[in-house]
Amino acid sequence: MITETNSAVTETLLYHEQTKHHFHRYARSAGFLDWANQPNPFRSYEGVTPVRLPLLQKDPASEHLALYERSRNAFQHFTRETIGAFLELSLGLSAWKSIPGNSWALRVNPSSGNLHPTEAYLILPTLPGVTAGVFHYNSYLHALEPRAEVPETLWPQIKEHLHTDGFFVALTSIFWREAWKYGERAFRYGQHDVGHALAALSFAANLLGWKVTWLNAVSDEEIAMLLGFNQTQWPEFEWEHPELLCFVHRSGEQRIPRDLPSEIVSEFSGLKFQGTPNQLSADHVDWEIISRVAEATANVGQASSLPPELAGKVSASHFQTDSNTTLPFYTPTAESGIPAAQIIRQRRSAVAFDGITSITKNQFCAMLDKTLPRAECAPFDLGLTAPCVHLLLFVHRVTGLEPGLYFLLRAERDLPALQQQCHRHFLWRPVDEALPLYLLQAGDFQSTASSVSCQQSIAGDSAFSLGMIARFREELETAPYRYRHLFWETGMIGQVLYLEAEAQGVRATGIGCFFDDPVHELMGLPDDAFQSLYHFTVGGPREDTRLATLAAYHHLKALAH
Ligand SMILES: Cc1cc2nc3c(=O)[nH]c(=O)nc-3n(C[C@H](O)[C@H](O)[C@H](O)COP(=O)(O)O)c2cc1C
Repeated sequence: MITETNSAVTETLLYHEQTKHHFHRYARSAGFLDWANQPNPFRSYEGVTPVRLPLLQKDPASEHLALYERSRNAFQHFTRETIGAFLELSLGLSAWKSIPGNSWALRVNPSSGNLHPTEAYLILPTLPGVTAGVFHYNSYLHALEPRAEVPETLWPQIKEHLHTDGFFVALTSIFWREAWKYGERAFRYGQHDVGHALAALSFAANLLGWKVTWLNAVSDEEIAMLLGFNQTQWPEFEWEHPELLCFVHRSGEQRIPRDLPSEIVSEFSGLKFQGTPNQLSADHVDWEIISRVAEATANVGQASSLPPELAGKVSASHFQTDSNTTLPFYTPTAESGIPAAQIIRQRRSAVAFDGITSITKNQFCAMLDKTLPRAECAPFDLGLTAPCVHLLLFVHRVTGLEPGLYFLLRAERDLPALQQQCHRHFLWRPVDEALPLYLLQAGDFQSTASSVSCQQSIAGDSAFSLGMIARFREELETAPYRYRHLFWETGMIGQVLYLEAEAQGVRATGIGCFFDDPVHELMGLPDDAFQSLYHFTVGGPREDTRLATLAAYHHLKALAH
């Protein structure tokens, strides 16, 4: 019997197979860049008056480890200023780059091809300087675009349900932005970007003494209702797909429910939404497999509503997510001298690596260590399920470690299956007492790493690169929407690595373009029980000196005049 879940699993697996890059054939895309129709990276709503948010005059003084450890950050009240700081340090602009005749903005959160499919919305109670409402965040203006007023009478009900004060943040994707360049594989990239944005939100919140909790039991349809999407006139092919809803609250508040009662959600359908989304491109190509996989992987609200501290519980000490215990960070190089906000602001992707710079084993381990979930630490305590993603590491230039293929195990339960399925000659030799890190095979993997990463030399010229290996088939069979969550987990790990690279004085780059099955063959994986979903590289960057850099919000001064 074909059930709805079965056919959604089939559809999702089909999408995944069809969008693999192979040595002899890339996933389907236009094959050229239609510059005339390049999507505008900034969504704005016409017909509304934006509420400008102040830019930080002075960054929080927090140190590097305050990004992670909640205990280091004092609670700041929810105000227009602190909401501005939260967005500036998560989804705001970080700089402009220019060459004669062309300039483009970079953001705190990275995005494949700098196309930025992820949009953010806030649902705020009345705060000093803001009236309660549903808002779109316009990062170009650093402003909130009001879409609807939320009646004061609704907030006591919301607070009663969630037991505490706070506000909502929702993320959505405009698939077209990525599909313009990447065609059918674009859905994957959009999901990576959601993961990066989610981690960026969690870090920025933490610096303000706030915590982001993902409300996993709120369905995509409910998110659309909360954001007034059924009252929105989307330009054709430029609709936004609801991804997730989070509640932002004071750190330390435990047991936030993960759902919203239908009586609250349905109140939003009665609100009057205003504003018309801007047109991003004049012409489009319909990659209809993307709409199909989006539908197949929709969260229809069956996700468990366990509180986050219970949802991610696994037994072994390395993977402790129990709220009473926290693993110490890897010493002695856990902490960098660069302040937290500076690390956030200076994050960039390296476009090339020097092929020379090495890092020490301590630095390497300190970076990897931050990708392990910990209780009371951002960003992995926001309530994804138990970790499903591991790191297959290509170590090129790490003093104190012989070059070779290594494995960081992020969830102990997968070790027997991995050992059984990978090549017999892999050593699985532990290399550090404090980290679940194993040597699989010694050797020079520079050219292999580049070759499986779509021949990109950034994967071989770095200090190390990696493939993120996810427990796959079983997760999808449990629920097809897990497909999206696996990509979010990889994006979150990526965001940690971006920041850790900066903290350790090197630089990173996300790699969405890799040859899927050759990675699996390299490991000896026979089927889709595990799949590589994202690649990454970290090392000494080679700067492109042709580019000029301008301050993030210099254009606002020009607008003001
Ligand atoms: C999901 C994802 C995939 C990416 N894939 C690649 C890649 O395959 N090759 C590459 O050179 N850069 C890649 N990048 C880096 C982006 O091009 C970069 O983030 C973007 O240009 C914005 O620049 P910034 O990171 O310096 O802000 C990727 C980034 C992300 C987030």
